[in-house]
Amino acid sequence: MKDFDYLGEKTVYLDAACQSLRPRPVVEALEKYYFEHNSCGERVKYPWGEETDRLVEGARKKVLKLLKLSSREYFTSFTLNTTYGINLILNQLKPELVKKVVTSEIEHNSPFLATMALAEKLGVPRVVLKRRENGELIIDGENFAGAVVVVNCAANFDGRRLGNLKEVVKKVHKDGGIIVIDAAQAMSHYHDMLEKTEADAICFSAHKMYAPSLGVIVARRDLVPKLEQRSIGGGMVDDVFEDRYLLSAVGNKEHIYTIFEPGLQAWGEIVGLNVAIDWLMSRTKADKKRLEECTRELDEFLRSRDKVKMVGNEANPTMSFYVEGLDSHLIGAALGKEGVMARTGYFCAHYYLDKVCHYPALVRFSLSYATREEDIERVKKVMGKI
Ligand SMILES: Cc1ncc(COP(=O)(O)O)c(C=O)c1O
Repeated sequence: MKDFDYLGEKTVYLDAACQSLRPRPVVEALEKYYFEHNSCGERVKYPWGEETDRLVEGARKKVLKLLKLSSREYFTSFTLNTTYGINLILNQLKPELVKKVVTSEIEHNSPFLATMALAEKLGVPRVVLKRRENGELIIDGENFAGAVVVVNCAANFDGRRLGNLKEVVKKVHKDGGIIVIDAAQAMSHYHDMLEKTEADAICFSAHKMYAPSLGVIVARRDLVPKLEQRSIGGGMVDDVFEDRYLLSAVGNKEHIYTIFEPGLQAWGEIVGLNVAIDWLMSRTKADKKRLEECTRELDEFLRSRDKVKMVGNEANPTMSFYVEGLDSHLIGAALGKEGVMARTGYFCAHYYLDKVCHYPALVRFSLSYATREEDIERVKKVMGKI
């Protein structure tokens, strides 16, 4: 694809679940910001700043539009990454609201450890719920009163999804809990699952959805009164006295997003996200079909080999496996020598992959819109040799 024409013919990048390759228009937007309107956003009145403001405001709106959420109920804040977003929320929840912390067994260390830390800090129980093989959260008999629930929408080792997302959100709210969705792996290919969700917050990493490195928090406006401000500094106050301050997020509902944005933000990256969302939304049927076919082709090839053991039953652009009798890290190194870039290990999902499933270290291929048919042929050839 021309937007990834900088990729060498023999370079096969299969690590999109970590960070996707950036299409040319996104890199160009970043370059334009640095070369033509390098300025602080939402503070300065000179023309460069006005252009940055226009694009940053556009990015906030486009995130909500992508998720079909209304700005009357939700707002978009920027941060470093998914991990930071989840930690910012959990660490600022008013302690009296949290009677227990709930997560699931297939989480990335990002929510898995953050929920552990929160439960330890507040001295409340932490519950690790099971997921069905297809990714649904098992909530039968659970009561979420006073619970803070943090679960992913898609897993980072085989893309299994929270198919009962809407039902889970409804149940948590009905019981009187708070729910934060880790959408890190959902935004590139499954953002439609999150449309009109009523979760209290959705955290994701723009770098996994063709945008520059950036974290995004989409939160309900009514989450803000449940927080106590801990991360505080420039860019988030309307007035300051010797021993007190007026928070913009509280005094001005237009600036509610500042609640999660202490200090100067990654303006260029936010501008890049603005363009990345347009790019993602304009993928054609042919682009989608190519990704589906590449996924199916590689999945079928791997499943057809006796010694290859796949994680999960469904074909997904993110797929993990091990080869009986062969060390995955050696496989990764051998692939690397042939120009195929793939991840090996447990991909920060140690608890589930190692302690629950007892898998050996795995190999992960994660495909994206940058994946070409020739890439799959090359991987099959190299894997065949291995
Ligand atoms: C499901 C999931 N959650 C959270 C994260 C953490 O993302 P980040 O490292 O960008 O904070 C990842 C990263 O791979 C992930 O796959």
